[in-house]
Amino acid sequence: MSRTLSRITLGLLLAPALLAASIAQAHQAGDIIVRAGAITVDPREDSGAVEAGGAALAGTGATLDSDTQLGLNFAYMLTDKLGVELLAATPFSHDVGVTGVINKLGSIKHLPPTLSLVYYPMDSGAAFQPYVGAGINYTWFFDEDLGSAAEGAGFDGFSLENSWGLAAQLGADYMLDDRWMVNAQVRYIDIDTTGKTSLNGAPVRVDVDVDPWVYMVGLGYKF
Ligand code: NI
Repeated sequence: MSRTLSRITLGLLLAPALLAASIAQAHQAGDIIVRAGAITVDPREDSGAVEAGGAALAGTGATLDSDTQLGLNFAYMLTDKLGVELLAATPFSHDVGVTGVINKLGSIKHLPPTLSLVYYPMDSGAAFQPYVGAGINYTWFFDEDLGSAAEGAGFDGFSLENSWGLAAQLGADYMLDDRWMVNAQVRYIDIDTTGKTSLNGAPVRVDVDVDPWVYMVGLGYKF
């Protein structure tokens, strides 16, 4: 083949590949990305001893189980590589126990909105977009309910203090086309709270570092 012809042939061969690459165009300044998926909050609670009437009870501590809900991310790209992101979710519900005292003290709900600055190191043309982020979390506890067994045992009233803390995350988007993506992410959120109740009229309190790992997998769409 002549040199000209081979260049044309090469061009024709490369064209579909270049087209495919441009279809997977990811994350540019001004993009709005919405992600939705299953999100699990897995507390790795580190609890102080329960204090009743001012005295610490040796061997006691609060426990929390994990919960999975619908997670949402709303992200806005400030530049091709830097975005802001809000984490939202349907309310999480956890059972609360007290080691050595009562298996199920009650249950709580919470919402942990988190606002993060997120950095995407890859070029905007890459289909695979890993990212790191750091931000601020506010966790709002509500619907604190004592269990019937706890009420029967003489507990009365139950509350958890809301928490401000830092959050860090790792995640990745994989672009399926120029709008849809699959996403996986993990975060660590610093959530510290104090639980309060009373037992036979004596005030009971416990400091708990909830500090959960938060996992989410789902789909995203870029506007
Ligand atoms: Ni903490």
